[in-house]
Amino acid sequence: MTRQRLGVCYYPEHWPESRWREDAELMKGLGLSFVRIGEFAWLRLEPNAGAYRFEWLERAVATLDRAGLKVVLGTPTATPPKWLVDRMPDMAALDVEGKPRKFGSRRHYCFSHDGYAQECDRIVARLARAFGGHPAVVAWQTDNEYGCHDTVLSYSQAALRAFRKWCEKKYRAIAALNEAWGNVFWSMDYRSFDEIELPNLTVTEANPSHLLDFQRFSSDQVAAFNRRQTEIIRRFAPAATILHNFMGAFVDFDHYALSDDLDVAAWDSYPLGFLERSSHDDDFKLRYMRVGDPDFQAFHHDLYRACGRGGWQVMEQQPGPVNWAPWNPAPAEGAVRLWSFEAFAAGAEAVSYFRWRQAPFAQEQMHEALLLPNAEPNDAYHEVARISKELAALDARVETARAQVALIFDYESAWAWRIQPQGQDFAYFDLVLAVYRGLRRAGVSLDVIPPAAAAVAGRALIVAPALFAPSRDFAEALATSGATLLLGPRTGSKTADFQIPDDLPPGVLRRLIDIRVRRVESLRPNARVPVSGQGAFVRWREVLAVGDTVAREIESDDGETALARC
Ligand code: GAL
Repeated sequence: MTRQRLGVCYYPEHWPESRWREDAELMKGLGLSFVRIGEFAWLRLEPNAGAYRFEWLERAVATLDRAGLKVVLGTPTATPPKWLVDRMPDMAALDVEGKPRKFGSRRHYCFSHDGYAQECDRIVARLARAFGGHPAVVAWQTDNEYGCHDTVLSYSQAALRAFRKWCEKKYRAIAALNEAWGNVFWSMDYRSFDEIELPNLTVTEANPSHLLDFQRFSSDQVAAFNRRQTEIIRRFAPAATILHNFMGAFVDFDHYALSDDLDVAAWDSYPLGFLERSSHDDDFKLRYMRVGDPDFQAFHHDLYRACGRGGWQVMEQQPGPVNWAPWNPAPAEGAVRLWSFEAFAAGAEAVSYFRWRQAPFAQEQMHEALLLPNAEPNDAYHEVARISKELAALDARVETARAQVALIFDYESAWAWRIQPQGQDFAYFDLVLAVYRGLRRAGVSLDVIPPAAAAVAGRALIVAPALFAPSRDFAEALATSGATLLLGPRTGSKTADFQIPDDLPPGVLRRLIDIRVRRVESLRPNARVPVSGQGAFVRWREVLAVGDTVAREIESDDGETALARC
């Protein structure tokens, strides 16, 4: 059990060195205990290839250390410098249209590019060797927000080569791949792995099995990229905590899988920005404009608690208006405090604010911080002062327990239903969040879990909305868990190859309940199919055939089974 901590994100390279000491002392005085630095500083660390300039960072760490602050050091691989991009222009990711993601902001790299990966090994090893033994550097953050700005999928030559190898490793024989993908349809069979294409720029939709495997491959590439860094850091800093800062409402790679290589999962919480970007209607957005969707933060706290090997943290907490949402209102008075305590109540070890001082230059100049651009305290500074006093008085320790109720959240399902929504506005993430919202409204305290056997033991109720293709083993684990299971729409409706199961959905889950889904229909937003006196189907309807052991609980008004129980 550790004590809850407060921190802040700081960019010493943005400010004159003469200011660093005052900043560090102010941070300490505010009750902060750690500072995250360095994650975008590659050029300042290596202005020219092989010419390292770490002295300034050493002085920055020393200044923070002298003030009694610990450091989370970021690896700078989200911002490769211009000289590096110019040396290997093909390191850029290509978007779905085949256009390069150019230099001039950040994340301009392809996860599959070997040359870039080696450059990252080099700079990470140099940094880890220089700072791995420093007593103030207690944690490392790999890169920054993997996948931000839509950067997981890349259609580059490097990705194509790596995808072909990935397919060969998975299927071994090209005939097996053709069968799994159903390539006989439209004469899409490949004669060898070298013929495989990436699933972009096709005339109409690409094969869903192909798309899903490409998404799985891309997710594996992110995890492998991250693993290279964690292995290097562990060599030079065996005692340090390794973390990554994940995002909200982001499903483009499997966060559970990547977290296997981390000690701690962190996430970046921007309640107002996320609300403005969400698909909620205007009334909802207006209602929560200054506090954010209350279930959104809570869901992510629960999700990231399920990642990593132990603790979890908020690495970037919104302190004021941000710059990147369609509309950027200020938080209500007290909202920063509310968000911070909500995170601690959900089990966070630490909450850190983004950022210390508002930058008057470049892309994020409209993004507020604890300090104004002129270094005067902004509103959030005063809130944080209060939070740190209250936290000290509480003297609480982080402790979490296993909840009786578990809600399954699965990245493959998110990919599958994005590939084949079968109803224009269906989004898996929104469905899971809606179920989460309903459970919370009913006062239920729950864990979010992956579809993994180890996560289901000891639960009283397990809820699985739209779980795409549960494995046979997972079906077995559910069957023997002793829990009541609530299986939602689309659950079990495909095989892992993205095909309809032999004896119809719910596929392997027929071991649990003897039903077959005979028909699905998606309904336009204003259509309703009433069910016997209890509401209606909206947007999606499954028509069930039920076996002898199963009770028809609820029928649609046209006499079809709508809900079955065994
Ligand atoms: C995060 C990112 C930060 C900063 C911040 C602005 O997504 O990690 O570097 O850009 O957003 O809100």
